[in-house]
Formats: sequence, C-alpha cells, structure tokens
Amino acid sequence: MMPGLLLGDVIPNFEAETTVGKIKLHEFLGDSWGILFSHPRDYTPVCTTELGRATRLCSKFSERGVKLIALSLDTLEDHHGWSKDILAYNCEESGCCSLPFPIIADSRRELAVALGMLDPDERDKDGMPLTARCVFIIGPDKRLKLSLLYPASTGRNFDEILRVVDSLQLTATRRVATPVDWKPGECVMVPPALSEEEAASLFPAGVYTKDLPSGRKYLRYTPQHQEPEDCTDADAQHSCLD
Ligand code: BEZ
Repeated sequence: MMPGLLLGDVIPNFEAETTVGKIKLHEFLGDSWGILFSHPRDYTPVCTTELGRATRLCSKFSERGVKLIALSLDTLEDHHGWSKDILAYNCEESGCCSLPFPIIADSRRELAVALGMLDPDERDKDGMPLTARCVFIIGPDKRLKLSLLYPASTGRNFDEILRVVDSLQLTATRRVATPVDWKPGECVMVPPALSEEEAASLFPAGVYTKDLPSGRKYLRYTPQHQEPEDCTDADAQHSCLD
C-alpha cells in the first residue's frame, strides 16, 4: 500500500511533539474542523510568507470552527525561533508573541512518510526529501474532506483554503455543490443526482436552469440562502443565471 490519505479516510490519531507540547491529533481537534498543513523547512522565504498569511487569517478560520496545525521536519527549537521571524515579518502591528496555531516537529519523518507528505525533488543537505506543501482538511468526524499537495517551489493561496472550507461546510449539510470560483452568498448548483421534483421541494427559493445546445437540463442553480424574503423570483433568477 502507498502511504498517504484518501478522501473519506480517518486521519490517524497520532501523537506528536508540537510548539504547544505533546498532542494527540483527535483530542487536539475535538469537535472542530481541522487543517493539518506541512511546509518544507523553517527559516525559508516562501514558508515564512505562507505561515504569516495563515497567522493573519487565523481568526477567520476560528470563526468557522477550524483549528490549524502545521508540520515540518525541523526541531521544536527551530520552530520556536522561526516563529519570531514569521510574526516580525507578517504581523508586527498585532504585537502577538506566539503563532496562533501549533507546529509539529516531525524530526524522525514518521508522520510525513505515513501521510504521503514528502516532495521527492526537494532534499536536505543529506539528500533526504523534505516535506511538500500539503493541506489536509479534516471534518469533525476526523475524515479527510479535501487534500492539496503543492511542491516546495510553489506557495499556496490561503484565501483559497478559506474559500474551500466555506464550500465544504456548506455542502456537508446541504445537498448542493459550489461552482467554479464560488464565493459565499453566490448561487450554488443543484447536484445531478437530484430529480427535478426533489430539487423543487428542497429549494423553495427556486431552481434556475441554463438553456444549453444539448437541450439537457443539468446546469441548475439555486440561491445559497433559501429564505423566501431574501429576494424576489426575478432577483434570484437574475443572480443565478447572469
Ligand atoms: C521556501 O520556503 O522558500 C522554499 C523551501 C524549500 C524549497 C524551496 C523554497
């Protein structure tokens, strides 16, 4: 079996040394959503910008009930020292003296190997692969809801990670899907598995179908918010189809 995690897998309840002490992942997450994200190396430029952005967005993740936890192969001592650089470079005005999320010290590479987080093209001075820029979004049921794997050379977009959290949390409770570049508040799509009758009863604010050359009626939108007072039928049709 290849190491790694597939969508729907339960993330192992591993024990780890972190900047806030020893944790067991499931206990750390509790009933929250979680984002476990790795970076290649402390004291490197792209990683410094990424963890700074994660720090600045931390309150937005908290508002959504999401706990962040970072990981790399560096030591706790390096994590603590580097945290000061991250805060100084990205958050000087906030006056914070510690990062608002823990960083795991996976110095023995056990987690990185087991979770399939290594980048074969990026190696340390001994020729050993470093961690890639991996993002695992974990639901309150501890199952993997989404994963991203970027090479060391490409920094991530944490606004996009926040955006996909909004989609994951919406689609966890509602039978809808979110279209390309969707943002909260915009119309959502009716999944193909729903019949016209089911869609009509599930979405009282209306289902708006785009006419297509094939004549097939699969491009169906509905307002994200279904409260009748939100908008008139004409408003809804306009906002979903234009
Ligand atoms: C960086 O964070 O800048 C970086 C780390 C490892 C490889 C390439 C870039």
